[in-house]
Amino acid sequence: MSEQTIALVTGANKGIGYEIAAGLGMTVGVGARDARRGEEAAAKLRANGVDAFAVPLDVTDGESVQAAVALFEERFGRLDVLVNNAGIAGAWPAAPSAATPESLREVLETNVIGVVRVTNAMLPLLARSARPRIVNQSSHLASLTLQTTPEVEFGEVNGTYTPSKTFLNALTVQYAKELTNIKVNAACPGYVATDLNGFQGTSTPADGAKAAIRLATLPDDGPTGGLFDDAGTVPW
Ligand SMILES: NC(=O)c1ccc[n+]([C@@H]2O[C@H](COP(=O)([O-])OP(=O)(O)OC[C@H]3O[C@@H](n4cnc5c(N)ncnc54)[C@H](OP(=O)(O)O)[C@@H]3O)[C@@H](O)[C@H]2O)c1
Repeated sequence: MSEQTIALVTGANKGIGYEIAAGLGMTVGVGARDARRGEEAAAKLRANGVDAFAVPLDVTDGESVQAAVALFEERFGRLDVLVNNAGIAGAWPAAPSAATPESLREVLETNVIGVVRVTNAMLPLLARSARPRIVNQSSHLASLTLQTTPEVEFGEVNGTYTPSKTFLNALTVQYAKELTNIKVNAACPGYVATDLNGFQGTSTPADGAKAAIRLATLPDDGPTGGLFDDAGTVPW
């Protein structure tokens, strides 16, 4: 087995995902649903010294995911780190009373079902890794504990994006219980200035990438089945 650590970051052509790819210190597949944007991001990363290559990957499209599996299979025969970062906000603000079956389905298709689609497709490749890690990009918003703490202010209530990340948290726990050979954790990037929130966030994508990078590079005695930000544990 080669010494290099092989990673895939979904939705890595911009925002937090790009900075995760930049900061992992691994050979990294830059997942992007738009092939051109993926190539451009990978080229920029390589120009900055990162061993990066583009992976055309739309997490809502099974054929695209299978093509990504084939790419890793052919090139490396395994995957060490999967960062499920791709996500959409959907309509915002979106109070539960304004949600529609369509608006909910759209967000769940990417933020939840997309994670399951990519993860399950990549599991045979992760099984060949000596130190497999899965990181799901969650949010402080997803914490039911924080959401039900009156002193914690989250702004607009949301019936689609926020529950989609709570669902993702629940999936993270179940995956961690099933996949005892893989460390599976969820990351909270903080409130980060990206396209997702019209650049209203208060921290940088590089800072937002820190929690996921830490979870992707956990030592063998590190945790599994947890929710973390860059300061430590976040309550479910
Ligand atoms: N920004 C925050 O404050 C914040 C806070 C908590 C959690 N998060 C989470 O962090 C992750 C990254 O978000 P971000 O803030 O960096 O937003 P962003 O700049 O909008 O980046 C989102 C990335 O996901 C990609 N994506 C969307 N749908 C996809 C699909 N179907 N298949 C593949 N890729 C897809 C986007 O690709 P395109 O460029 O093609 O659209 C883009 O690369 C998301 O999961 C988000 O929920 C963000």
